[in-house]
Amino acid sequence: MVAPILPLALTRDSGVALVQQVANQVRDAVSAGGLAPRERLPSIRALAADVGVARAVVEQAYDQLIAEGWLTARRGAGTYVAEVGRLPAAVDRGLPTPALGSVEPDRLRLDTGSPWVDPRHAAGWRRAWRDVSAARIPRGYPDPAGLPELRVEVARYVSRTRGLAARPEQVLVTGGTTHGFGLLLGVLGAGQIAVEDPGYRAAVATGTQAGRKVVDIPLDAEGVDVRKLRSRREDIRAVYVTPAHQHPSGITMSAGRRIALLAEATRRDAVVVEDDYDSEFRYDVAPLPALAALDRDRVVYLGSASKSVHPGLRLGWLIASEDLVAEIAWQRAARHDHPPWPVQRAFLTMLRDGHLDRLVRSARRVYAERSRIVAAALAPYGDIGAPPAGMYLTLPLPGHVAESVRAQCWQAGFDVPSLTEYSRTSGLTGLVIGFGGVTDDELSRALSVITTALKHCTLPAQS
Ligand SMILES: Cc1ncc(COP(=O)(O)O)c(C=O)c1O
Repeated sequence: MVAPILPLALTRDSGVALVQQVANQVRDAVSAGGLAPRERLPSIRALAADVGVARAVVEQAYDQLIAEGWLTARRGAGTYVAEVGRLPAAVDRGLPTPALGSVEPDRLRLDTGSPWVDPRHAAGWRRAWRDVSAARIPRGYPDPAGLPELRVEVARYVSRTRGLAARPEQVLVTGGTTHGFGLLLGVLGAGQIAVEDPGYRAAVATGTQAGRKVVDIPLDAEGVDVRKLRSRREDIRAVYVTPAHQHPSGITMSAGRRIALLAEATRRDAVVVEDDYDSEFRYDVAPLPALAALDRDRVVYLGSASKSVHPGLRLGWLIASEDLVAEIAWQRAARHDHPPWPVQRAFLTMLRDGHLDRLVRSARRVYAERSRIVAAALAPYGDIGAPPAGMYLTLPLPGHVAESVRAQCWQAGFDVPSLTEYSRTSGLTGLVIGFGGVTDDELSRALSVITTALKHCTLPAQS
């Protein structure tokens, strides 16, 4: 019996892995009756040649369908359609598989959160995952506070890079900043949370989704305005700040403001939550030590691998008193919210073998150079100052100008965030231009669209 030709249509830019595409289309053919029970499928070699993919792709797709029960393999005799009935129509056709990452694949967002994933450092990434696959598989659930060895390494890392002395028992491994904040909210007593405005929207979402009311505190030139915080009557349990590099204004909180903030938090018996998301990427001098270094009891410190390694890793750390860490770990264990062991194990290797340091050192140079280019291009259009750190720049602009530039960028295929997206009450307008998650070429194309659009808008002359 000659095996049928399968008219598979594979696309390489859909975001769906080829193995999955082959498996989905063969499964569809079987469930819709296009391939009959006991019918023989093309050999792996023939199908791979027909559709132009490696044999391993077809082999894995067949294996998956055999495991699912759609196909059977007869030793030495090929692969056949199993004796399965046709699916009811609703299940059969009603659930299209969404193509991963297929939402507007052509539009590039210059967002503030995406770091530059430098292909020159891919070897370190692969080494870490090889290490994971070679490591002894642990028994049962991992420690809910995090891998003990990783807690030791993170404690060393924050002491070395952020002047924050912490014992491993004070380190809790999290799934990133917002996850850490959510865990903290789970153990804090009743009360509202105060956030910077403009500020980090994911922190607001985390707070409101945890059932907390959110109070907006404006900024001044030294950071969050503590006098405004003092004037609020609400029962505030936590104040969320980004002292090293305020998000998204770029302000570094002054030493005096840090002291004032701690005094106000003490008066209220509130905790200060320090989101230290990108302090590694200071271009010139070392950043001020972490705010948490000033008061280890009052400040809960949140760090993340999202900017230094990859946001998809979902790994971060929370540093607080031993009691608080133990309480969060206890709560997590009760609901099996354990940080994934392979991710922790991979990050441990990245810390130990210097991969993280190499990434940070090289990204710092890339961002310093890109920020110079962006600042030079935008200098004629607004007050951007000299950005000291990070992977984005904020350009204050009148609202109608910002919107017009955004619209023209959108037409040209770029999504440039608006400052209003980061603001609930401040009324500030402008653009926030992230330059981490793009290539040099994409950045230069985006800048040319932005500056052309700015030229066409009537802006007040700069003094
Ligand atoms: C202000 C701020 N904090 C923290 C993060 C990182 O969050 P996470 O660790 O949850 O990925 C980001 C990422 O965009 C950010 O902009």
